[in-house]
Amino acid sequence: MAESAPRKVDMEKLVSLCRRRGFIFPSSEIYGGLSSCWDYGPLGVELKRNIKQAWWRAVVQERDDMVGLDASILMHPQTWEASGHLGGFVDPLVECKSCHLRWRSDDLKGDKCPSCGGELTEPRLFNLMFKTFIGPVEEEASVVYLRPETAQGMFVNFENVLNTTRKRLPFGIAQIGKAFRNEVTTGNFIFRCREFEQMEIEFFVKPETDKQWFDYWLEERLNWYVKLGIKRENLRLRQHTKEELAHYARECYDIDYLYPMGWAELEGIANRGDFDLVQHAKSSGKSLVYYDEETKEHVVPYIIEPSAGVDRTALALLCDAYDEDVAEGEKRVLLHLHPALAPIKVAVLPLSRKEPLAPLAKEIYADLRQQWMVNYDDAQSIGRRYRRQDEIGTPFCVTIDFQSLEDKQVTIRERDSLKQIRVPIESLKKTLAAKLGGEDLFVLPPGGSVWKE
Ligand code: GAP
Repeated sequence: MAESAPRKVDMEKLVSLCRRRGFIFPSSEIYGGLSSCWDYGPLGVELKRNIKQAWWRAVVQERDDMVGLDASILMHPQTWEASGHLGGFVDPLVECKSCHLRWRSDDLKGDKCPSCGGELTEPRLFNLMFKTFIGPVEEEASVVYLRPETAQGMFVNFENVLNTTRKRLPFGIAQIGKAFRNEVTTGNFIFRCREFEQMEIEFFVKPETDKQWFDYWLEERLNWYVKLGIKRENLRLRQHTKEELAHYARECYDIDYLYPMGWAELEGIANRGDFDLVQHAKSSGKSLVYYDEETKEHVVPYIIEPSAGVDRTALALLCDAYDEDVAEGEKRVLLHLHPALAPIKVAVLPLSRKEPLAPLAKEIYADLRQQWMVNYDDAQSIGRRYRRQDEIGTPFCVTIDFQSLEDKQVTIRERDSLKQIRVPIESLKKTLAAKLGGEDLFVLPPGGSVWKE
């Protein structure tokens, strides 16, 4: 694989930019924050919405073999017994006998506490699921769990989806939603959170076709990140060793991204075989099988599961997009975000905030806002305003100057190339629409598929 270009971003710079510009704040910050929980600010929420929209479009809207679902976060507790999460979703933990900090024993190098050098207890298994109670009484019988993955909602609805959509194999269910894990190893900003969002596909196939569909989804999913603009050299596929495989998986690959702290998982793609449908059929007493009209046989489908994280995608996109250069004679920080992902698509910048420019600029702003997220900024010099937009990844600035009053034209300035073009106000929307992408919003770079290394 090609050597990666030196990175201009470290986590500290990124956290600071996200905090300063309103992408991401520590959760409940006025109370000192809550460990590994984050709030997405005005720009972060737009970035996340755009990521989810791009994913939904690629895996549901543009396909005829996929349907969506939005299952409840709280599920019947039997779900987690059947899925193996009650017994198996555990981390081995040791506790320091002096300072009482807890550590994952498989993360430790030596046999002493990394913080104070104290003696450690024997490892104890710690379940990662958050427990709560349903109803007014806090007793064992009313315990429920916050889901640690969205996947189970799709398995338990397999029959419902099959019966209501009349889909034939192969077909998939897609879901975006919150998941919760009481993670022990935390840190690295939004990489590992206790509350996060997943974008998961459960793709049901005939058992003998599992290998073919597994390869298909590896390629499809890797290509998706490249289409979003992530540099190919910062992505890799890594196969799980036998020891690493989750209890349900026959085979698994991670799509890793080269984050500032090193290579780490962005998405996992697993062949779950028939584990989940068999387990839920056993546990519920319902028959979760598929009748194959061609062979006249009942089969338990195998499941291929591409499971991505919204937060880790946001982090990868921000790291990849971050750049520093010199523009218009000044140092600038910029985010080369794909226009479809940029939180703000266009900024409207009148050269002066006075009459008669302001009314014209505001009219243009109101018109563009019907179609896109648009910023209006009339504070400080035009250079400062361009810098502010570059730093949040706004692909286009529209400048209204005094000449605009005469010739009814405005200037569009491009974030990446710094090119400026003058266009008639009446065709501004059309020009921007063409630049912001129409039908083929996300395309692979020349060369097509990027999977084979
Ligand atoms: N249903 C399979 C499953 O949940 P996983 O590898 O544990 O598999 C899938 O999680 C994806 O969810 C990961 O690749 C990552 O993007 C995201 N994810 C998992 N744990 C996370 C956490 N604590 N914080 C942020 N994202 C997380």
